[in-house]
Amino acid sequence: MSRQVLILLGAPGAGKGTQAVRLAESLSLPHVSTGDLFRENLSKGTPLGDKAKGYMDAGDLVPDELVIDMLFDRVGREDCAGGYLLDGFPRTVAQAEALGARLDAQDEVQVIDIEVPDSAIVERITGRLSCGGCGAVFHRSFNPPATEGTCDRCGGGLSQRADDSAEVVEKRLAAYHEQTAPVAGWYRERVGICAVDGTQSPDEVFGACRACAQEVAS
Ligand code: AP5
Ligand code: MG
Ligand code: ZN
Repeated sequence: MSRQVLILLGAPGAGKGTQAVRLAESLSLPHVSTGDLFRENLSKGTPLGDKAKGYMDAGDLVPDELVIDMLFDRVGREDCAGGYLLDGFPRTVAQAEALGARLDAQDEVQVIDIEVPDSAIVERITGRLSCGGCGAVFHRSFNPPATEGTCDRCGGGLSQRADDSAEVVEKRLAAYHEQTAPVAGWYRERVGICAVDGTQSPDEVFGACRACAQEVAS
């Protein structure tokens, strides 16, 4: 059976999580975020969470082998049998190669790159509020929740991520430019990518992403 594998690329704070939640609902695909999976492991105190914590707090990428094992375990589950939406993976060319080797020839890979300049990223990230319950993201000024501190979607509590400080953001951006930006070129040569202007409003970005997903699918 062929699977739809939708990949969201973009810098930290580009809006991958914001769009992934909506795209997953709209396309009926499970939303798989490697950042969320690490944070889940961290909150449960698993050995994997312990190993990842130091890298995440420093703004570095977690080593490929830890990420790839965790991701393959997740997408091997029943709910991903018909396809899935990847948010934050692959982030290195080695991760893209490992995913490529795992997929079947008939799987339909679609790649969307959400483009936002570095100058807009710091404000987005330092004002972000994240839901521990469902993964939804808000922003103090750009996208405030209806009730302060509470998720509009699931009623869960909102909090600021440990790595969302101005200092760590600089490191995350550097890791993005060095290690993740080449992944877009890797896909451009192999399957093509759909570039979306991520500086538009969240609704406009969603419309553009949704059009990409449909376009590639038809
Ligand atoms: P991860 O959790 O994936 O973080 P990230 O890539 O740094 O991306 P973010 O979640 O910060 O941003 P986003 O693009 O999801 O933006 P969002 O929608 O929230 O990874 C965290 C760490 O885990 C990594 O640093 C690494 O250590 C490790 N890791 C994870 N995956 C890994 C991998 N594959 N390999 C190795 N290590 C890995 O939006 C941001 C803010 O902007 C929000 O407040 C939102 O409300 C606002 N916003 C969104 N869209 C708009 C808009 N259009 N206009 C105005 N504001 C907007
Ligand atoms: Mg995210
Ligand atoms: Zn929620």
